[in-house]
Amino acid sequence: MQETDTPYLVVDESVSINNIERMAHRSRSLEKELRPHSKTHKSPFWAQQQMAYGADGVMVAKLSEAEVMVEHNVINLSLGYPVIGPAKIERLQALVDNGARVRVSVDSLEGLLALAVVGRHLGTPIEALVEIDTGMHRVGILHPVDVVEMARAIEKTPGVEYAGITCFGGHVAQNLDRDQIILKIREENQQLQIIRDFLRHEGLAPRIISEGGTIAAAFMDELTVATEVRPGTYIYNDAATIAAHGAAIEECALTVKTMVVSKPTLGRIILDAGSKTLSSDGPVLGGYGIIKGHPDLIISRLSEEHGIVESRYQGKISLAIGDIVEVIPNHACTTVNLHHRVMGRKGPTMREIRTLARGCVQ
Ligand SMILES: Cc1ncc(COP(=O)(O)O)c(C=O)c1O
Repeated sequence: MQETDTPYLVVDESVSINNIERMAHRSRSLEKELRPHSKTHKSPFWAQQQMAYGADGVMVAKLSEAEVMVEHNVINLSLGYPVIGPAKIERLQALVDNGARVRVSVDSLEGLLALAVVGRHLGTPIEALVEIDTGMHRVGILHPVDVVEMARAIEKTPGVEYAGITCFGGHVAQNLDRDQIILKIREENQQLQIIRDFLRHEGLAPRIISEGGTIAAAFMDELTVATEVRPGTYIYNDAATIAAHGAAIEECALTVKTMVVSKPTLGRIILDAGSKTLSSDGPVLGGYGIIKGHPDLIISRLSEEHGIVESRYQGKISLAIGDIVEVIPNHACTTVNLHHRVMGRKGPTMREIRTLARGCVQ
């Protein structure tokens, strides 16, 4: 088979399908709903596969991603990003008019009123989850009293249906020590339990308690409170997931095929994949991606089009100009966002899988 011109993304489809199947099986056996975040693959093709293997819906961040999914008949969606401003209200309305079932996270009265406008216009209430900050300090409501207040506000607002609470504990994987990660997941679980019990006490029992992230999902039996999980990265996995004990190298489906284009010294080679190809996320484990089959090598720096590779031990590098290697990127989601397509590898055959929701920032 003729090699596709480098650099390009390859997905080992059987590894991805195994990842999808395993996550679906695990969430089913622990009686949790599964709503994978599509931010990793950005592709209706993979969203349809996740649904076919038992996912209950798919998550998106931005409305433009939702629009791509709905165009391809993936209609059961969670929107995990605040809907703020008239343009977004109009688009959410159009999305539901086009047949989407959308559940939205809310952490402000402004966000709630936007949903109320849409729900009242449609005559069907929009499902809302209160977004909680469990320690990542991004969006979300921090104090349990304010969570209860928001839940009550949702319940009282015509056009909106109170469905429960949601959180994304991205901070749990900031420390790479396995025991520390588990400790953080347990802390988050406890926080959710306190909030759930408080809500129950106030007559606002959450039907859905949704928890995000591949690392949390990797330790799913610790999530005793969540009724739903939303892993995204697990479909491909990446160097950051390996570093945070969420996957083994054999479970990484996505690689960047890249060619050695220069060898300025015996101990330094240059790959045709820089930050425009790999993304500049990192470093993870000291580098900008894992070069498969070459544990002695490290991608120590990136410029836009150059990946600078050195030996970890200041030794000579055996790779020559023209050689092709496969790199597991640090962060699959941001890498995929840079490419119009991934090449799906299935045994000896390759096919194009379009990343139709890439660059969807609105
Ligand atoms: C709100 C939300 N939920 C779920 C996820 C999925 O997390 P991961 O990519 O770690 O699987 C993310 C990722 O950024 C997220 O922001």
